[in-house]
Amino acid sequence: MLKIAPSILSADFSDLRSALKICSSGKADYVHIDVMDNHFVPNLTIGPVVVKSLRSVSQSYFDVHLMVTNPENIIDAFSKAGANGITFHIEASEKPDELIDKIKSKGKDVGISVKPQTPLETILPFINKIDRVLIMSVEPGFGGQKFIKSSLKKINTLRNLLIQYNRNNKVEIEVDGGIKIENAKSVIDAGANAIVVGSGIFKASDPEKQIKAFKQLGN
Ligand code: DX5
Ligand code: ZN
Repeated sequence: MLKIAPSILSADFSDLRSALKICSSGKADYVHIDVMDNHFVPNLTIGPVVVKSLRSVSQSYFDVHLMVTNPENIIDAFSKAGANGITFHIEASEKPDELIDKIKSKGKDVGISVKPQTPLETILPFINKIDRVLIMSVEPGFGGQKFIKSSLKKINTLRNLLIQYNRNNKVEIEVDGGIKIENAKSVIDAGANAIVVGSGIFKASDPEKQIKAFKQLGN
C-alpha cells in the first residue's frame, strides 16, 4: 500500500491547523514535518513546541524528518511533543546504533535518511533495526526543488537490497523531494512505498483533491 506524506513545509505557516485538516480530509497517511536547524541545512523551521501544538489538534501520524546536527539531543523533546516516527540523517549521526535504540525506547518508528550523494552502504549495517529509509531526491533544506533523476536508481537498488536482506516487507522506502503528480509513478515503480510531497500538494489549487490524486497512483 502506497503511503502519502504531505510535507507541511509548503503549507501556510500562519494557518497550519488548516493544513492538518487538509491532510486528514484528504486521507493522507502521514503528516511530514521537516525540522531544520540552520546548521545541518541552511534553513530554520519547526521545533518540538510547534509539534506539540499541532498534536493537540490532530490525530494524524506525525512523520518527523530531522535535518539537524546532534539529533540525539532532541529525540526526547520530539517524542514527548507527539511524533509517531522519527527519521534522522546518517550524515548527522556519530552513533547511529545508540540513536536508533533511543528512538525505539520511546516507542517510535525509526527512520534513517540519506542525502542524494550519500551511498546506501552507509545505512546497511542498521537495516535490521529500522522501520524506514528516507531517500532524499533533492538536497535537503528547501521545498520546491527539482527531483534528482538518479534517485530512481538508488530507490531500485535499495528495494533489491531489502529483498536480499529479507527486510522487504519490514522497511518502508520513503522518498522526499521534487515529487509531483507527473513523476510520482516513476518513483513508485522504482520501489518506493511512501512519498513525501510538499509543493506538489500545498501549492496545488485544491490540496485535498491532490492528496487523493496521489493516493490513486498506488492503486
Ligand atoms: C526538503 C524537505 C522536503 C520538502 C519537500 O528538505 O525534506 O520534505 O518539504 O518539498 P517538495 O515536495 O516541494 O520538494
Ligand atoms: Zn522532508
